[in-house]
Amino acid sequence: NANGLKAGKTRNIIEKMDESGKNCVIFYGSQTGTAEDYASRLAKEGKSRYGLETMVADLEDYDYENLDVIPEDKVVMFVLATYGEGEPTDNAVDFYEFITGEDVSFSESSDDTPLGNLNYVAFGLGNNTYEHYNSMVRNVDKALEKLGGHRIGAAGEGDDGAGTMEEDFLAWKDPMWAALAEKMGLEEREAVYEPIFGIVERDNLTKDSHEVYLGEPNKMHLEGTAKGPFNAHNPYIAPITESRELFSVKDRNCLHMEIDISGSNMTYQTGDHIAIWPTNPGHEVDLFLNILGLENKKDTVISVKALEPTAKVPFPTPTTFDAIIRYHLEIGAPVSRQFLGTLAAFAPDESVKAEMAKLGSDKDYFQDKISKNHYNITRTLSLVSNGKSWTNIPFSAFIEGLTKLQPRYYSISSSSVVQPKKISVTAVVENQLIPGRVDPFKGVATNYLLALKQKQNGDPNPEPFGETYEIMGPRNKYDGIHVPVHVRHSNFKLPSDPSKPVILVGPGTGVAPMRGFVQERAKQAASGEDVGRTLLFFGCRKRNEDFLYESEWEEYKNALGDNFEMITAFSREGAKKVYVQHRLKEKAQEINELLLKKAYIYVCGDAANMAREVNTVLAQIIAEQRGVPESKGEEIVKNMRAANQYQEDVWS
Ligand code: FAD
Ligand code: 2AM
Repeated sequence: NANGLKAGKTRNIIEKMDESGKNCVIFYGSQTGTAEDYASRLAKEGKSRYGLETMVADLEDYDYENLDVIPEDKVVMFVLATYGEGEPTDNAVDFYEFITGEDVSFSESSDDTPLGNLNYVAFGLGNNTYEHYNSMVRNVDKALEKLGGHRIGAAGEGDDGAGTMEEDFLAWKDPMWAALAEKMGLEEREAVYEPIFGIVERDNLTKDSHEVYLGEPNKMHLEGTAKGPFNAHNPYIAPITESRELFSVKDRNCLHMEIDISGSNMTYQTGDHIAIWPTNPGHEVDLFLNILGLENKKDTVISVKALEPTAKVPFPTPTTFDAIIRYHLEIGAPVSRQFLGTLAAFAPDESVKAEMAKLGSDKDYFQDKISKNHYNITRTLSLVSNGKSWTNIPFSAFIEGLTKLQPRYYSISSSSVVQPKKISVTAVVENQLIPGRVDPFKGVATNYLLALKQKQNGDPNPEPFGETYEIMGPRNKYDGIHVPVHVRHSNFKLPSDPSKPVILVGPGTGVAPMRGFVQERAKQAASGEDVGRTLLFFGCRKRNEDFLYESEWEEYKNALGDNFEMITAFSREGAKKVYVQHRLKEKAQEINELLLKKAYIYVCGDAANMAREVNTVLAQIIAEQRGVPESKGEEIVKNMRAANQYQEDVWS
């Protein structure tokens, strides 16, 4: 099993709980690590506050046919993220199909309510800007209830779209714990931190020892025998053959990169996503180690061991403190308020402890002091203690309390027909000025890519931390600039018949997959195929600032002829904002005619506003042009979505 489930390990959750003495399992369906994180937090809280014997479990590691025989004195929790268009996360697909299936069958019970003994708890992670908000938890909850399961507490819903995920989770969990305690007769007690991971210093090893991991993601990479399949557990270290700037303004950056996958057996299809595995910037790693007083120990070799039979160490060991922070933990991410509460016990003095406890318990205070400024864990600790080191925090608390460093996804901006072994990426660099904060907030992956580009091109003013962005640690055996990647297949696909017309809507970096689509159709046209009308709606601030691939579109036009039309919306050139959806309206008649000819429509980019407004405008266009009520227009758009005639590739 690619997920590290060792051969011979059971897929029977009841057996697993029995053999490890557990009475509470927390299953997670997670794509970007947040749901997994919340599952771990529930596990820890259940144990420390209520003495529950908890374990966390990846949904894909177990079978579900025996949920009907799970004893009544146990509890099963589900922490389920909804991904994309209301889909389950990759690791939850099988479970979802099983539990919501028409004729779900269990090992023993065959009546209408086979799950009559099941006590469960449910929390969902979703984003209200998507149509199928939290559909995973809603549908699973419905299915479990229908099968006779007893939910304890309310089914919680966290909303990433509103930016309230953490607070939604915190507000949900306390009443849930109270209900659970009552149901199971649990006594609440003073929570004490109990480490899940033990850390042993390895005096016999140095960071030069060959068995010490210095950023290599797994054993094959350490031993230099990395081979496919390359996936979310095993990245390919790919050469970047080209990296250049697409914007012509100084303070904003957008990168175009070519990533060479010819040395691997990876493939991609136009419209797929590539995952980039970033590393944390060197200066943030140093700040982190300093505030913990670990600056002199950063290269000390340590082994990390799970103290719990069901816990998994989330990175390979032996390793070093520096490597864990640099390659494996999300140290730049927003801080969890609950985590600060946990760390209060380890404050360097009483006043710092009181301040931490206040931040942990006072939502508005936390928002004002920390969230608003986009402070990460290091900056928070440093601010609260006024720079004093936090030498009392067990390092394991960070392994448990911080998210695993996540790969970031990018919509591939090339066509696999045109360049099957080279993947183009179009990435806008996250660099935000935050009022009240001295330095800008910088995104992890995009600034890593920017530093790689500066290094590759020998730019005169590289990022100050550029030199520490080594690939796979100091043992870097790669000639030239490389980046760890894997490909994720998507459903965002051109019609198989190229003569079908397409309408592409991709403002900003939403143009990325559209470039791949247009490239592909241009090639098809050049080789004599019958290619249908291609309408591309692109929006940016100003023609001479951020018009992505401006000169390329002409080339595609040469191949596609008048069948290709690019419609631009420059939002900051005139007194009034002009967006792609305004341009769609201006083209209402043609759009309606194309849709009646079964044109496919594609929308990519910002999920929060743009994609939703485009959907609304399209429904209006259809209603007006066909002389039907707007509700009918909306219904037609809905049906187009269901038939894959309307496809979205959006992110927030
Ligand atoms: P991160 O460090 O991940 O930060 C991202 C955001 O998280 C910040 O802007 C902020 O809102 C929040 N955040 C992070 N840390 C904190 C903190 N300490 N406090 C408060 N808030 C914080 N992007 C593209 O440019 N091009 C594409 O083609 C593209 N395609 C995508 C396709 C898919 C399917 C998805 C899901 C995303 C896509 N993205 C694309 C977005 C991309 O994956 C990244 O999210 C983006 O590049 C930012 O990554 P980062 O690591 O630089 O920023
Ligand atoms: P703005 O930043 O000037 O508001 C790419 O980011 C382009 O999308 C920019 O021109 C941006 O305009 C525009 N944009 C911002 N909000 C949008 C929305 N709700 N719908 C469509 N385009 C939008």
